[in-house]
Amino acid sequence: MSNLFPTYSRWEVEPKWAEGSFLYGKDGKKYLDFTSGIGVNNLGHRPKAVQEAVQEQLNKFWHVSNLFPVEIQETAAEKLAQAAGMDLVFFANSGAEANEAAIKLARKATGRKKIITFYQSFHGRTYATMSATGQDKIKKGFGPMLETFTYVPYNDLEALKAEIDDEVAAVMLEVIQGEGGVIPANKEFLNGVETLCKQYNSLMIIDEIQTGIGRTGKPFAFQHYGLTPDIVSVAKGLGNGFPIGAIIGRDELKDVFGPGSHGTTFGGNPLSVASSIATMNIIFDEDFLAQVNEKADFLKKNLDEQLSGLSNVSGIRGLGLMVGIEVKGQVSELLQELRVNGLIVLSAGENVIRLLPPLTVTIEELRSGVEVLAQVLTKNS
Ligand SMILES: Cc1ncc(COP(=O)(O)O)c(C=O)c1O
Repeated sequence: MSNLFPTYSRWEVEPKWAEGSFLYGKDGKKYLDFTSGIGVNNLGHRPKAVQEAVQEQLNKFWHVSNLFPVEIQETAAEKLAQAAGMDLVFFANSGAEANEAAIKLARKATGRKKIITFYQSFHGRTYATMSATGQDKIKKGFGPMLETFTYVPYNDLEALKAEIDDEVAAVMLEVIQGEGGVIPANKEFLNGVETLCKQYNSLMIIDEIQTGIGRTGKPFAFQHYGLTPDIVSVAKGLGNGFPIGAIIGRDELKDVFGPGSHGTTFGGNPLSVASSIATMNIIFDEDFLAQVNEKADFLKKNLDEQLSGLSNVSGIRGLGLMVGIEVKGQVSELLQELRVNGLIVLSAGENVIRLLPPLTVTIEELRSGVEVLAQVLTKNS
């Protein structure tokens, strides 16, 4: 009997150790891991630079309270803010905590309560972030939710126009809905959201928890569309496996989060921050991102060539190395068959196979992953 709450439907593969794009199971098998720990290990498993940075910090100090000035927090904040073209950072420990901070900041800054989010969105499992999430299944049995969240259809500017008014503190959205099914927003919609936010003095919060830190070929997905959000939330890939989340905000918000207004014991933990500095040093490099884009083009082209003609594949979409393959029917059995054939991937929603390979994946690894996908999907078509 397990002493863990059964909150997760666990896979049959039990990891023994992992390196780069590969995970080695206790079953003695080698698996190509196209999950990156759900968009976390963007540099693959155990990258040397991150390991060394954490090791170095392990030999200095592990935790001090946020009552002390911590130099590496300043370094990490500067890198993160600079990459986003923004000013200020608050460090949290997870995606949900980052979004909680974003919601609190937006309400306090505007003095307004209402927040608009979108159907199929996912923003976390705490009460505010669960309330922000536009999926009933996430909330089932946990009600009542916070009342001041309303939802409109994604990619539907007219619906947003009908809902937004001068009582709206913020509009909060993902540039690509990850958990909701790898659904990209279109440019016209994103630009329209920004214009409406400006018109009503509402803040634009972009949740980059899954799309951020190079996943889409730029440091942040919003940068593909020339947006200037007021608050951006990140987590997952920021520490390449060490728990860290953050919000990035504009200078105008500085006084809203003054001393004593918000905080967390572990936020900005020196070990996690050390991992994030090493991660950002690699990923925010232009040449590295250029390679991510080349690999993404290769992956997209190969998937289109090999899968788009299959009767059980109804669409292939995404941005950078965040890809969704929509299939007819449920994906859970397909995922299991892929694992049997040595490829680990994720689902998104009921009928989408989600690929989040490490950004360090090689062309050869991508080629062999697509081969397995083609083999299994052809067999099931
Ligand atoms: C877009 C988005 N927001 C928020 C979260 C919540 O992050 P965490 O699980 O770290 O709390 C996730 C996690 O999947 C996510 O994909």
